[in-house]
Amino acid sequence: MEHTDIFKQAMQELAAVRTIQDLHAFEARYLGRKGLITMGLKGLKKLPPDQRKQRAIELNGLRKELESAIPKREAEVIRRQAQAQAENEHFDISMPGITNRAGHAHPLTLVQQEIMDVFERMGFYVMDYPEAESDFFNFEALNIPKDHPARDMQDTFFLEDGNLLRTHTSAGQVRAMMELKPPFAAIFPGRVYRYEATDASHDHTFDQVEGLMLDHRISVANMLYYMQTLLEAVLKRSMTVRLRPGYFPFVEPGFELDIQCMVCGGKGCPVCKYSGWVELMPCGLVHPNVIRAGKLDPAQWQGWAFGLGMSRMVMMRYEIDDIRLLTGGDLRFIEQF
Ligand code: DAH
Repeated sequence: MEHTDIFKQAMQELAAVRTIQDLHAFEARYLGRKGLITMGLKGLKKLPPDQRKQRAIELNGLRKELESAIPKREAEVIRRQAQAQAENEHFDISMPGITNRAGHAHPLTLVQQEIMDVFERMGFYVMDYPEAESDFFNFEALNIPKDHPARDMQDTFFLEDGNLLRTHTSAGQVRAMMELKPPFAAIFPGRVYRYEATDASHDHTFDQVEGLMLDHRISVANMLYYMQTLLEAVLKRSMTVRLRPGYFPFVEPGFELDIQCMVCGGKGCPVCKYSGWVELMPCGLVHPNVIRAGKLDPAQWQGWAFGLGMSRMVMMRYEIDDIRLLTGGDLRFIEQF
């Protein structure tokens, strides 16, 4: 069969189709309800009778041809498009990947967990108390009445409702006495707040651990044993310590346990305020008034208590020379642990 003009034209157009959209448009143009073939067949009547048959054969032949050629072309267009896409999108397997940043525990958390482990193994409770605390537990119950000069030792953030941000974990002492049946031993680690100017060794937000033991016969020797166990477990090295008298209204007698500065080895640096010593653990035997505030009889119950500057302990342990780094949130610092 000789190819007519319309046949040649259709085949040329089909070969020029590059996209699926163009192919659909082409299909509609020839085979659609208003397409060239359909309209051509409808228009046969208008042709002179001797041409009608020939024209009908042409148009039907073309329709048949297109019905098989269009799907073939479609497959080809799809294949070509995929190929072009693959050629444009190159993937370099030697490029470094994007890694996920894995977090880890903060050095304060690490040390706190170690302290908790040590004391739990010795049979201590680990307690948790509110950071927003009443004046009673933070001061009054600890033998620090209103207008007592010792209140000046701890500059305080007061809350509008009359409560305050606890200035020390000692605030948990009388809570523990009320909550736990003596004899008991407990530690309460936690965050504390002071309204004060900051420097390398002072921050307004820091962490302490309180230790408290109540029993019938308690001595300074008991207390020393636990403090020493704690220090050795967490600092993991031998160190020089000294015990000297210290005043705190809630203990009698009161002491300061100092350790030789581990940042400078006792030579003097900003951390130890150039004294060679760092106050690490104030401690003492619980004052009878505090035992009374816990609704216990001081003739029956005695206790020891210590307050450990956990932030300082972390600084000693990792040789960090500025306390403000601990809560500063600088990832370059935190990521080193
Ligand atoms: N709470 C005191 C402070 O933060 C520290 C302290 C002193 C705690 C003597 C004690 C203690 O348990 O016995 O300054």
